[in-house]
Amino acid sequence: MARITASVFTSHVPAIGAALDLGKSAEPYWQPVFQGYEYSKLWMKDNRPDVVFLVFNDHATAFSLDMIPTFAIGTADEYAVADEGWGPRPVPKVIGHADLASHIAQSVIQQDFDLTIVNRMDVDHGLTVPLSLMCGQPQAWPCPVIPFAVNVVQYPVPSGQRCLNLGKAIRKAVESYDEDLNVHIWGTGGMSHQLQGPRAGLINREFDNAFLDRMVSDPEGQAAVPHINYVREAGSEGIELVMWLIARGAMSDLAGGPAPVVKHRFYHVPASNTAVGHLILEDKA
Ligand code: DHB
Ligand code: FE
Repeated sequence: MARITASVFTSHVPAIGAALDLGKSAEPYWQPVFQGYEYSKLWMKDNRPDVVFLVFNDHATAFSLDMIPTFAIGTADEYAVADEGWGPRPVPKVIGHADLASHIAQSVIQQDFDLTIVNRMDVDHGLTVPLSLMCGQPQAWPCPVIPFAVNVVQYPVPSGQRCLNLGKAIRKAVESYDEDLNVHIWGTGGMSHQLQGPRAGLINREFDNAFLDRMVSDPEGQAAVPHINYVREAGSEGIELVMWLIARGAMSDLAGGPAPVVKHRFYHVPASNTAVGHLILEDKA
């Protein structure tokens, strides 16, 4: 059967993609950011998954105010890299895993989560920047990716509890897939940031580090935190962090197994307008 063996959590700051694409990653401003992912790139090579289930948010690129799915699963064979205003990033197209994605859609919908099925979608920095941070600049991404888009842009957004429970359902879905596949689940977005209004530029290190602590050892407690607390303490775009709970909910401790092992933890301010946070958790074999 397929198994989820690890979860990865990371910010998706678009300027990180631009820094990489324009060859600026060694500059003094960016060097500490990319330094924090050196271990992660080695870990990806040593622990190469067969599939990444990548929870991310679209930024009004594939979707718009015309249509706002709360949870959307990509069931396509491939996904083009979106043009976000400066042309598409010069990164490989994203190869999907239509068979596993369709199986997860079937299972998760039958577990009473309403997913939107997406057969065509361009993917923006929400998906490509985490891939770049974890995989560097390869000719092709190392494995197929199932994009899972969550609405955290237009209110109402899903609660932390619903995200955690969805993660649990995704774990069950993966474990009921016949083929032997090593699946990693990624939660992306965050950390604290606000891009508009009088509080633009808000960063809250205390909130972010407490969030990282609770992602490791108290995900149930974090899931009980209402969305308004994210907005008040982590800024209007800090709500992106709720997506991390989907990936965290898919770890084995929440299905009665042992606590995951923390392989890597990183936090840095600033990167563009946000704090960068990153965790790698492995399930004990
Ligand atoms: C920035 C951060 C984001 O998460 C985003 O989607 C767009 C911009 C920023 O830091 O500028
Ligand atoms: Fe964002």
